[in-house]
Amino acid sequence: MKKTIVTGGAGFIGSHTCVELLAAGIEPVIVDDLRNSEERVLDGLEKITGRKPVIHRIDCTDARAMDLVFATERPDSVIHFAADKAVGESVRDPLKYYHNNIGSLVTLLRVMADHQVKDLVFSSSCTVYGEGDKLPITEDSPTGAAASPYGYTKVVCEQLLRDVCAADPALRTVMLRYFNPIGAHPSAQIGELPIGVPNNLVPFITQAAAGLRKQLTVFGNDYPTRDGSCIRDYIHVVDLAKAHVLALQWINRQSGAVCEVFNLGTGQGSTVLEAVNTFEAVNGVKVPYAIGPRRAGDVMAIYADTAKSLRLLGWRTELTLADALRDAWRWQLALGK
Ligand code: NAD
Ligand code: WQD
Repeated sequence: MKKTIVTGGAGFIGSHTCVELLAAGIEPVIVDDLRNSEERVLDGLEKITGRKPVIHRIDCTDARAMDLVFATERPDSVIHFAADKAVGESVRDPLKYYHNNIGSLVTLLRVMADHQVKDLVFSSSCTVYGEGDKLPITEDSPTGAAASPYGYTKVVCEQLLRDVCAADPALRTVMLRYFNPIGAHPSAQIGELPIGVPNNLVPFITQAAAGLRKQLTVFGNDYPTRDGSCIRDYIHVVDLAKAHVLALQWINRQSGAVCEVFNLGTGQGSTVLEAVNTFEAVNGVKVPYAIGPRRAGDVMAIYADTAKSLRLLGWRTELTLADALRDAWRWQLALGK
């Protein structure tokens, strides 16, 4: 069985990817210090897959600890999810973000080189496009005008990977630009674990519907969109997870150097109000909400052109916004109101 190190594998997207790796006959080995996740994710993984993945509870920026993991596990490839991801916090504490998000990638690349591991899938984000130059947005659109320090860490990591690939053509890397990942595993055994007040829309919707938050504030209804609220490309986390397996398999089929970037979205934009209405319709529950002012740094509309991911990876989404919002609500109910 091929073995993949999954940094951040106990997190939201990483845990769902572990399920899909196992389904594809690839063994995930998690490297995660649980700074933004919980031990019980492993129980959820065991319930879904019948197997409890190995976890090394270490900090990915710790080169000695990472070296030991690689020496012990002898992986074939790596999927690197580990990063801090709270946009607002990154504005208040940029050094934390530059240190962890860039430091962990630098450490990882050094350790991979020392152990002759060549295949890497990296978690990037649509945030690298900033405002974006066209819709739907293609991978060749300009990047580098990210709206936050968090976004810049992804811009820097992508450039770092291009530079390292140019210096070492044997390194084969795919950078995946996720749009807005939402939902949870349909089994409701794993899902997102937002700590404190959620920053992202869907965890806020589920908590408001559950009565844990008084109401959702819709950040602006005066944008020049079909109902005045912002447009995003919400993608079910299970569809997203499957793309990682396809990316690893695609890298494996390439003979020469690989340094490619792919959009991972549905290709469809939905407004905030459409997401709220769909949630209410699919789950039969009300979401208390009020319209508030625009949120600083929000772009009006962004959604993916997914032609490249379909053409090269053979990946397309199978689940809908309604599926994702149904699964997000099941997960909220499983967490307990
Ligand atoms: P998450 O916080 O749920 O998962 C990240 C995991 O990495 C956590 O379990 C955390 O404990 C771990 N981690 C962080 N730094 C670490 C370190 N130095 N050492 C060991 N473990 C560490 O986040 P997620 O939503 O699953 O995101 C995964 C990746 O996808 C991140 O790189 C994120 O920037 C990127 N991304 C996320 C989104 C999103 O909206 N969720 C969108 C685009 C890109
Ligand atoms: C979605 C929409 C809000 C909360 C973020 C990061 C991005 C990427 C994905 C990591 C927006 C509106 C939200 C609320 C609202 N992450 N909203 N009320 O900002 O598109 O993207 O996650 O790479 O980098 O910036 O996602 O879920 O915060 O917001 O009206 O309480 O919901 O204005 O239009 P965003 P989000």
